[in-house]
Amino acid sequence: MPRLAVLASGGGSNLQALLDAERNEGIGGNIVLVVSDVPGALALARAERVGVKAVTLPPKQFADRAAWEEALWKVLQDHAIDWVLLAGFMRILGPTIIRAYEGRMLNIHPSLLPKHGGKGMYGHHVHEAVLAAGDSESGATVHQVVLGCDEGPIVAQTRVPVYPDDTAQTLAARVLEQEHRLYPQAVRTLLEAEA
Ligand code: GRF
Repeated sequence: MPRLAVLASGGGSNLQALLDAERNEGIGGNIVLVVSDVPGALALARAERVGVKAVTLPPKQFADRAAWEEALWKVLQDHAIDWVLLAGFMRILGPTIIRAYEGRMLNIHPSLLPKHGGKGMYGHHVHEAVLAAGDSESGATVHQVVLGCDEGPIVAQTRVPVYPDDTAQTLAARVLEQEHRLYPQAVRTLLEAEA
């Protein structure tokens, strides 16, 4: 079974969906490591609760970006990680790790990419942009990670309607619910195709 690492900075509800799916129907691999850049992130507790190794790498503890990235690389190597899944990870990774995992690193983004992606498009900013554009639908995208932010090949998408009385919050909640279905499905499909 491929060994998976999930990188998460926040609440980790997508991590939880992946962990639940692994336990219930399988996702074609084993989540053996969770890494966060934010000390105390709920994602770390979610990992620990089910006995998955949780590692915190706060950027402040490293001399510079390169040192932080090297530490992340070492953790991934030490755990013999085959695939990296970004799930609400708020740092942009550099070329070394991205190239090393090219084709085996995924991200989930809360819009129908290529719409409303790129630098600065995260969290409520995405949903506010969807509402400002007057889009009648939004959704979520699982994509391969490449050097350009949110630019990698699309693996899977799911759509939700946008209602006239939506706020960024109500739309985010509708999208997030679908993310929790989409991410495990997309991972399983890819990993089973590889097996
Ligand atoms: C999700 O909306 C995801 O699409 C985005 O960040 C959010 C993470 O939420 N990349 P959670 O931490 O998984 O709850």
